Amino acid sequence: MRNNVLRRLPVERAIGQSYGGGRHRLGITFKTRDLVVLGLGAMIGAGIFSISGVQAATMAGPAVIVSFVIAGVVCLLAAMSYAELSSIVPVAGSAYSFTYIAFGEIWGWLVGWAVILELLLAASVVARAWSLFATQTLTDFGVPIPAALAQVVGHGEGFDVFALLILLLLVLMLATGGRIGLRSLWFMVLAKVVVIGLVIGVGLWFFKPGNLTPFIPPAEITAGASEHTVLDTLFGGPTHIFGLWGIFAAAPTIVFAYIGFDLITTTAEETADAPRQVPRGVLISLLLTTVLYLGVAVTMVGMISYRNLDPAKPPLAAAFHAVGVGAMSNVVDIGAVLGLTTVMLALLISVTRVIFSMGRDGLLPSGLAVLSRFQVPSRATLVAGTAAILMSQILNVLTLEQLVVVGTLLAFLFVCASVLALRGSRPDLRRPFRVPAVPMTPVLAILATGWLMLNLKVRTWEYFGIWMAAGLLLYVVYGRRHSTLRAFLASPAPPPSMPVQPVQPSPAVYASPPPPPGQIPGPFYGRQGNLPPLRYLSADDEFRPNPPEPGGRPRQ
Ligand code: ALA
Repeated sequence: MRNNVLRRLPVERAIGQSYGGGRHRLGITFKTRDLVVLGLGAMIGAGIFSISGVQAATMAGPAVIVSFVIAGVVCLLAAMSYAELSSIVPVAGSAYSFTYIAFGEIWGWLVGWAVILELLLAASVVARAWSLFATQTLTDFGVPIPAALAQVVGHGEGFDVFALLILLLLVLMLATGGRIGLRSLWFMVLAKVVVIGLVIGVGLWFFKPGNLTPFIPPAEITAGASEHTVLDTLFGGPTHIFGLWGIFAAAPTIVFAYIGFDLITTTAEETADAPRQVPRGVLISLLLTTVLYLGVAVTMVGMISYRNLDPAKPPLAAAFHAVGVGAMSNVVDIGAVLGLTTVMLALLISVTRVIFSMGRDGLLPSGLAVLSRFQVPSRATLVAGTAAILMSQILNVLTLEQLVVVGTLLAFLFVCASVLALRGSRPDLRRPFRVPAVPMTPVLAILATGWLMLNLKVRTWEYFGIWMAAGLLLYVVYGRRHSTLRAFLASPAPPPSMPVQPVQPSPAVYASPPPPPGQIPGPFYGRQGNLPPLRYLSADDEFRPNPPEPGGRPRQ
């Protein structure tokens, strides 16, 4: 086991597997602005349209604004580490690959396993929220829902046809190579940003400073044992809602709203000049989202007293109803339906990429890293999609946002620690983006993330512990034995019968001249080394011809 812990994925191998050589044959290139749109598409969803209101009503009152600031700052600190690592290793596995490189296989596996939970569960939470908004939109527009259907749509738990259908549709689209055009993505994201802008612009007309008092409602003791946070347990005190502790208890749940900036890094293989543009995309989209969220949070608690917010109902629509602008609630519902669709799409694409990367490394069955005739990993998509659908139908996912967040926060911890580790062990790597003030910034990010994790409920940690124990077991019985890195390290020379797929580490990887051949991993072999990068988004509607190859043959 000790060897597994020490077995690290060499940076050159990580890049060579998916990035070297083949990347520029792609006919699709994202630019910074596309990545920003992708980031907004992945982030703005259930967190702002729904969870913000629940946290204001039940945990923080108007001070939910402060919870948004805290969550935003922690995410920004962590995002800088994502930006630096994606500028070094622009590959699809994101936090999983970064940790594999910096700390070794078992840690990479655990982070990957936590990220799979995060993304699958987030997709099911958003699907349930989508069903609530879709049902509300139909009702708003006077579309009658048949009595039989009314029992199985728009409910928080139990079997839900809308949640099932939307996930099924997106999964089948992705598994059969269907793509959403960049122009469509731009349209959907612009629509929800316009809705958010309208919420802020119109809502501020009805802003009543009186609704902000008391800004921090007095702390109340709650009897619900299931609400205990780790901090409550450590200090042996009762569980509080509202008050100062309420602000901190709401902050980790609100991290849910920011999930998505980290997903941009998984598109690195389809991005032009990824080492520079991916970090920019991550940071710009997160900054923009933070500003929009603060605007919405201020507007929401300024329009309606937190006491009148019903946690079971979408908060923004309720706020507009309360001030007598019912038409705006229809606009919000449409924005939410569009917004939540792009979030689900981004989450499903990302979880497939992480599973694909883990299959490529042999830690999950290699069949999951096989591209189908549609040139996408259809099996990985179908496996992930089925899991998300089952979760959305069986679990009461709308109460499990914290379980999504705990996986995210664990990934933040490891990504920030990976920056520190790689600065020490691989100072030679070229870093087009560098986290400022190292080690202070990553250390601050680790401490802040750790603090948020202590504010999660004990119940969340128990569920998370069960998931991680299952992951560890799976690693011991499967991943450890099937790891391609293990096979590679065990047999440095490829058998003559196997096709050799040499990977030349790009000189661009190094800040200083590359080490002599003996000191870098040699050629790799196996079909995984030769997989074309994944494509889910199409740039067909924004065709940019690629330059011809040196021999004059146009690139495909
Ligand atoms: N950030 C995404 C949302 O809020 C997951 O829906």
